Amino acid sequence: MTDLTYNFAGKTALVTGAAGGIGRATALAYASSGANVIVTDIQTEGGEETTHAIKTAGGEAIFVRSDVTSPDDVDALIDTCMSAYGRIDFACNNAAVELEDTALADVKDETARRVMDINFMGVFLCMKREISAMLGQGGGSIVNVASMNALRSRADSAVYDGTKAAVLAMTRSAALGYTARNIRINAVCPGVTDTPMLALKMSMVGAERSMIEQVANLEKRLGRPEELAAAILWLSSDAASLVTGHALPVEGGYLLTGAIPNG
Ligand SMILES: NC(=O)c1ccc[n+]([C@@H]2O[C@H](COP(=O)([O-])OP(=O)(O)OC[C@H]3O[C@@H](n4cnc5c(N)ncnc54)[C@H](O)[C@@H]3O)[C@@H](O)[C@H]2O)c1
Repeated sequence: MTDLTYNFAGKTALVTGAAGGIGRATALAYASSGANVIVTDIQTEGGEETTHAIKTAGGEAIFVRSDVTSPDDVDALIDTCMSAYGRIDFACNNAAVELEDTALADVKDETARRVMDINFMGVFLCMKREISAMLGQGGGSIVNVASMNALRSRADSAVYDGTKAAVLAMTRSAALGYTARNIRINAVCPGVTDTPMLALKMSMVGAERSMIEQVANLEKRLGRPEELAAAILWLSSDAASLVTGHALPVEGGYLLTGAIPNG
């Protein structure tokens, strides 16, 4: 657990998919740096738990139930944020699903469309509205949560991997379009991280946690959601003022696994 905090007093952070996992850890981290936090997710119970945890720790947060695939929901989400806090300084577009457990030819068409809708269109719908709000206030910082799968594929996640690669391409394009107008836009690429999504994937493919730990990264352990939150907060902050359009792997060296160490 990192103790690094920033001075985000008076700032507002919006985190999608904040009912658990990386999104919850990120919402808690923004709040402990003093930001007002809009916690949003399609899951009400988990979202309210995150909000409660922030308030119990002395922070400020509002939960808004919102489906990132619904333009009306995302409009209402941004409206709530603007009427409650008047601005959106930081946005972390984190909501996603991983629904596949087979190679590509066996993926149902409707599963592929659903994954694309949430993981890609959801980020698009949110970014579009976040950028409009940020332009109106003179700037901001966006961090999209992609995946190491955007950089190194797996055989049983073709559509998921494609959506995450598309998020990286959209991140770079948007950074090109808006950095000169004071909006930095970056992405993180988590490695295997200990969250409800990972637990679901392990149960879908019948994988043991101990086996996943062995192949997860060079440290042979699962990443902690707080380790992703630390990277997201740094990218959000002025400490990363010259960083834009990047995809930061936070994966314990997973991308190096399988490389020949010597000779
Ligand atoms: N856990 C990992 O190993 C791992 C690895 C690489 C990338 N990621 C990425 O990290 C991010 C966070 O994932 P996590 O591991 O914390 O998983 P998670 O399942 O705990 O969190 C994802 C959240 O998104 C929400 N969500 C799903 N569909 C939604 C919708 N239509 N509208 C609004 N919210 C919706 C879920 O309710 C959930 O709370 C995701 O983008 C995921 O792809 C995770």
